[in-house]
Amino acid sequence: MANTDNLTGINDGNRQMKTSDKELSTKPAAEVTEILESFSLSKSNLQEISQLMRQNMDRGLNSATNASAIVKMYPSFVRSLPDGTEKGDFFALDLGGSNFRVLLVQLLDGDVKMKSKIYKISQETMTGTGEQLFDSIADSLAEFKAEQGLGDTDLPLGFTFSFPCKQMGLATATLVKWTKGFTASNVEGKDVVQLLKEACKRKNVNLQIVALVNDTVGTLMSCAYSCRDAYIGLILGTGTNACYMEKLSDVGTWTGDDKEPREVIINMEWGAFGDDGCLDDYRTEFDREMDGLTLNKSKQLYEKMISGMYLGEIVRLALVKLGSSGHLFGGKVSEDLKTAWKFETRFLTDIEGDASSENAECRSILTNLGLTTSPSDLTIVRSVCVAVSTRAAKLAVAGLAAVISKIGLNELTIAVDGSLYKKHPTFKPNMEQFLKELVPSVSVKLMLSEDGSGKGAALVAAVAARLSS
Ligand code: GLC
Repeated sequence: MANTDNLTGINDGNRQMKTSDKELSTKPAAEVTEILESFSLSKSNLQEISQLMRQNMDRGLNSATNASAIVKMYPSFVRSLPDGTEKGDFFALDLGGSNFRVLLVQLLDGDVKMKSKIYKISQETMTGTGEQLFDSIADSLAEFKAEQGLGDTDLPLGFTFSFPCKQMGLATATLVKWTKGFTASNVEGKDVVQLLKEACKRKNVNLQIVALVNDTVGTLMSCAYSCRDAYIGLILGTGTNACYMEKLSDVGTWTGDDKEPREVIINMEWGAFGDDGCLDDYRTEFDREMDGLTLNKSKQLYEKMISGMYLGEIVRLALVKLGSSGHLFGGKVSEDLKTAWKFETRFLTDIEGDASSENAECRSILTNLGLTTSPSDLTIVRSVCVAVSTRAAKLAVAGLAAVISKIGLNELTIAVDGSLYKKHPTFKPNMEQFLKELVPSVSVKLMLSEDGSGKGAALVAAVAARLSS
C-alpha cells in the first residue's frame, strides 16, 4: 500500500526509529522496516476508511439495508440529553468487561455523588451459562444494597450492558451477539432485562429496572450533564464503539413514536466495521493471526485493530516474528513471549510512557518475559508498540471523522471513556492531531467522561423519570 502522503502528525510511530539513538548505528534491517510500515496509514488511507465508515452508517440507518448491514446503528431509545435539572437517587449496574460494578448514584442540581463497588467476573462466569452470569450479578446487587443499608429499597435502576443489543424500548433489549471474550450460553437472542429480572427473582432481590444502555450512551449522557455541546460518545477500552445523537428523520429503522424531541442516540456498534472484508487491505498478517486466537473469529475486525483487548497481542506476534528471524533478542524467543495474550496492552502504555533514553521500562518488561535484550532491541520493540498504538488512534479518528461529517456541526465535544484512552500516554494527543488533519474545518474537543458508563445509566434513568413526571 502506498503511503506517500503519510499524516504529518506527531509521533507517527511507523517512522519512529529514533535516528538519534546512538545504539542503533546501522539502519534497521529490511524486515523490521517492513513490519513497521505494514502498520502505517496515510492520510488518503484514512479518508478512504472514513468514507467506508460513512457508507456503512447509511446502510445501518436505512431500513431496506439494515438486515445485511455490518455497522448496525441501533437506536438506543434515549431521546434527550440531560439538562442538568435531573435529581434523585438511582442504582446502576455496569457490565462490559471482566469487571462488573454496582453503583449508587445521587443527582442534585448538576452535581453527581457516587458510591460504587467493583466485582471481578471470572473467566468461568464469562464463558459459563447465562444463568450463572445473571445470578452472580443479582448476588452482587444484593450484597451492595445490604452494605449500603438499602436492602429492601427499590430505587430505579439503569443497567449499562456494553454489548450489541437490539432495543425495542428503553428497558427491552435483545443481545445480538457477545463480544470481548464473553460467550455465556443462552443469552444471545434473549431480552437481557428479562434475564436480569428473573435472576433477581430467584435471588429475592427487589429490582425496578427502568433503562438498559450501552456504555457509549452512558458516556455521552454523563458528559452532557455538564457540557452542552457533547454529541458523540466514544469508548476506547477493552473494546471500542461510538454513539451520537441523530435526527429521527434519518433513522429509517426507528419504530418508536414521532413526538418531540425528534432525535435519538444511535449506538453504532462500530467495532464490527470491516467484518465484510472492507478493511482487509489494511489488516496485517498479525491482525489475522491474532483474530484466529479469539473466541469471535472474523468478527469485530475494526475493534480488534483499535482496542485494549487486542493491541498487546498484535505487538507480541510481531515481536515473535522478528525474534524468530534473528532480528530481536539474539534470535531467542522465550516461552512467555510465545504464549498468546501474555504481552498485555498495558505494556504498550508503560513502554511508550517511559521518557528515559535507556528504555528502562521496556527492558524490565522484556526481562520479566524471560528475554535477553540489547539496546537496539529495546528501540525496535518500542517502535513496534508506537506503530501499533498510532495506527489504532488513526483508525479511531477515521471513524470519528465519518460521524462528525454526518452530524454536520462546526463545533462539538466528544465524550470519551475507557482505559486505553485514559492511560496510554499518546493516544489522546495523537487523536487530537489526526482530527485536526482529517477534519480541519470542525473544532472538535475530546472530553474525558470519567466513570461515564455507570453514571450515565443513572442519568438515563433520571431523564426518563423527568420526562414522565
Ligand atoms: C464492544 C461492544 C459494544 C461496546 C464496546 C465498548 O464493541 O460490542 O457494545 O460499546 O465494546 O465497551
